[in-house]
Formats: sequence, structure tokens, C-alpha cells
Amino acid sequence: MTMLNIALSKGRIFKETLPLLAKAGIEPQDNPDTSRKLILPSNHPNVQFLIVRASDVPTYVQLGGAHLGVVGKDVLMEHGGDGLVEPLDLNIARCRLMVAGYPDVKLDGSQRLRVATKFANCARRHFAQHARQVEIIKLYGSMELAPIVGLCDLIVDVVDSGATLAANGLVPLEMIAQISSRVVVNRAALKTNNQQISSLLTSLEAAVTQNKN
Ligand code: ATP
Ligand code: PRP
Repeated sequence: MTMLNIALSKGRIFKETLPLLAKAGIEPQDNPDTSRKLILPSNHPNVQFLIVRASDVPTYVQLGGAHLGVVGKDVLMEHGGDGLVEPLDLNIARCRLMVAGYPDVKLDGSQRLRVATKFANCARRHFAQHARQVEIIKLYGSMELAPIVGLCDLIVDVVDSGATLAANGLVPLEMIAQISSRVVVNRAALKTNNQQISSLLTSLEAAVTQNKN
């Protein structure tokens, strides 16, 4: 049996994936919030976890550094799906990818708008679909700050409760996509380790269904 490497990011995805993995009988033997280890063993002799940045999960899985991983659909849409199979929606870390800005921003196409975001590809695609000219400003976080200091007219970011937008005087304006976390699998690994991966996916799917009911 192969040692299956599962790429997970610390924080929200790790916390919300944990109960689903537990229902599938897999439990990490260390806590990434307290341990400095980047490879966490599990109670299962053939499964271990690789702790990577959320936005690096697709790269690890695509290049075969991990057999599979859990990643937000936002990150996946931004990265692209080459070499990846997306077999399962875990229905966790749910939010929306949205365009946001000040309530009075003019969206009529009369001026070229500046859009700050860490989702540059998603933003470019969205505005191109609506035939609107924009200038993309790439940021890596704290997007909500950018319009306040005059860096941009709009942002593209994930929104859940809307509290971060509201706290900064911004409003959601357009929805780009509903987001949840997905299991992604390396396309080649799905063939070479089909039995092991399929059995894990079946258990996780059952856990997701149980969560919904
Ligand atoms: P990176 O470290 O690569 O910058 P990140 O800090 O955005 O990533 P997290 O905040 O852990 O990573 O978010 C992981 C995923 O959870 C996101 O890709 C998104 O799909 C989802 N997510 C982000 N913010 C929220 C939120 N407020 N509510 C629910 N889900 C969210
Ligand atoms: C994310 C995102 C927004 C915020 C949206 O940030 O970049 O800023 O969550 O969530 P809200 O609509 O519920 O305010 P981050 O992951 O830093 O926020 P969190 O962990 O505090 O939710």
C-alpha cells in the first residue's frame, strides 16, 4: 500500500475537514496550530497530512507532491484545474466570491475601474464576461482596505457574513460564484492508487451526506 499524502491548509479548512475525516476513520496525530511539523502522521498507517498554504494546495496536488488535497473553490478557480480531478464537494467553508465596493460606485461602464484582489484571474474573467474595462491590482490580503485608501474602486473577495465589508463601509455588489471546499486529486494518482483513493472518497462522501441530514 502507498502512503497517501493529503494536502491541507491550517485554520478554517483543517478545522472543518477534521470531523469529516474522523467519520471516515482518519485522525491526524498532531495539531498544526501547535506543532511546527509540516508532515503530520495519522492514526491510519497509510495516510499522512501535508500542511501547506491554502493557495498552494492545487500546486502540490497537480505536481504530485500530494496525492490529494482539500481546497476552496475560489482558490481552485483562480489556479485552474490542469492535472486535477475534483471528485467531491465537502460543503464546508462556504462563502461567496463577490465584487464589492462603496454603495455609490458607478458600475455603468462609463469609466475604467480599478479592482484590487487576490483573485486576479477570476476578476479578469468576470469583468471580461460583462465586457467591462478594468485594471486589476494584485493584493495578497486585507482587500477591504484598498478602496478606503483610494487604491481601487472595487474589490473581489470572499464574503460570508458580510461583517468585514460592513465594518469597512463597503457593500457586496455582484456575485461571481458560490464557494465551498473541494477534494482535489492528482489525475495520475487516481489511476495508480485507484483503490485506496476511491475507498477514501467513498467514506468522505458518506460523511458529507451524513452532515447534510
Ligand atoms: P492563504 O493562506 O493561501 O492566503 P487564506 O488565508 O485565504 O489562504 P483561509 O482563510 O484559511 O485561507 O481560507 C481557506 C478557504 O476558506 C478559502 O479559500 C475560502 O474558500 C474559504 N473562506 C475564506 N474566508 C471565509 C469565510 N469568512 N467564511 C467561510 N469560508 C471562507
Ligand atoms: C476572509 C475574507 C474576508 C472575510 C469575509 O478573511 O478575506 O475578509 O473572511 O468573511 P465575513 O463576510 O464573514 O466577514 P479571513 O479568512 O481573514 O477572515 P476570518 O478568518 O476572520 O473569517
